[in-house]
Amino acid sequence: MGSKKKTLAITLFFQLLSSVACFSRSDFTSTFLFGTATSCYQIEGAYLEGNKSLSNWDVFTHLPGIQPFVTLNHFDVPQELEDRYGSWLSPQIRILDPILLGDYPSEMHEVLGSRLPIFTYEEQKLLLNKLDFIGINHYSTNYVMDCMLSSCDLDGYMRDALIATTGYKDGVLIGEPTALQTYYAVPYGIEKMVLYIMERYNNVPMYITENGYAQGSSGASTKELINDTERIKFMHSYLTFLSAAISQGADVRGYFTWSLLDNFEWALGYTVRFGLFHVDYNTQRRTPKLSAKWYRKFLSGKRLQLRTSTQNYEI
Ligand SMILES: *[C@@H]1O[C@H](CO)[C@@H](O)[C@H](O)[C@H]1NC(C)=O
Ligand SMILES: *[C@@H]1O[C@H](CO)[C@@H](O)[C@H](O)[C@H]1NC(C)=O
Repeated sequence: MGSKKKTLAITLFFQLLSSVACFSRSDFTSTFLFGTATSCYQIEGAYLEGNKSLSNWDVFTHLPGIQPFVTLNHFDVPQELEDRYGSWLSPQIRILDPILLGDYPSEMHEVLGSRLPIFTYEEQKLLLNKLDFIGINHYSTNYVMDCMLSSCDLDGYMRDALIATTGYKDGVLIGEPTALQTYYAVPYGIEKMVLYIMERYNNVPMYITENGYAQGSSGASTKELINDTERIKFMHSYLTFLSAAISQGADVRGYFTWSLLDNFEWALGYTVRFGLFHVDYNTQRRTPKLSAKWYRKFLSGKRLQLRTSTQNYEI
């Protein structure tokens, strides 16, 4: 380092020191007022204490941004429970019939025989009709092929169910394919499913806890992904058939579309997109898709026309 620079640095240091040394309270008049500033709202809390009435900030900060809706399970089972019970093959896992009707369906007894647990009378009484509601995740509909009388190539739990599922009948697809293999858009499926549950389970209250449309994202630009007219068509038609089921008496009390944001889709990773909001995974930037605007408009009470895919959606 050159000595000139050193001299300059030392000079600056002395100047700074002398200016600090010179500064004191007496640089201000004795009547000049010093203090510290806070505000009760920003440090105290206790916004309802002492019969204080509400301020506009009390009201604003207590507006809920989001209201959570609790469901029991969404696939990520605690490993400890998986180790203890051995997952879905365990007789400890109950399906809907025992919970609502007290026992497994007679068909299951016929096929599985002694592999099914037997409930005692007390257990049945404990189980019977104890649900507040059923949460239903519904995405697609498939044809079911009987494998009791026909020969099928079955593996896994389908061997026990003695059915095979397929999207085809006489070479014709059941509905438009989506980015998820074997998931087709079959809007009437939601009406049939809800009416089935209504009849079988004595019209127990239902919430559609998930229903949504998968976009494939490989090779697609953000601009294309944001223009998700197929998702709008999906939601519009599924909600139309859901409302048809409700007008036939089904006690459906809510509908949640999957999903708010593009997300990690389990074993498929980030290859499919379910969000009403597009997520750029490099920047975390979130952009509302056309479907987000459509859903907002729908919820605001506007009557919306479903246009054909050759026309633009006016949102
Ligand atoms: C609040 O108001 C109630 C009813 O007017 C009164 O009984 C109570 O003493 C008040 N509390 C305080 C902390 O002022
Ligand atoms: C959005 O997609 C539709 C077809 O689904 C197309 O007609 C329309 O031109 C697209 N809009 C934009 C802005 O790319």
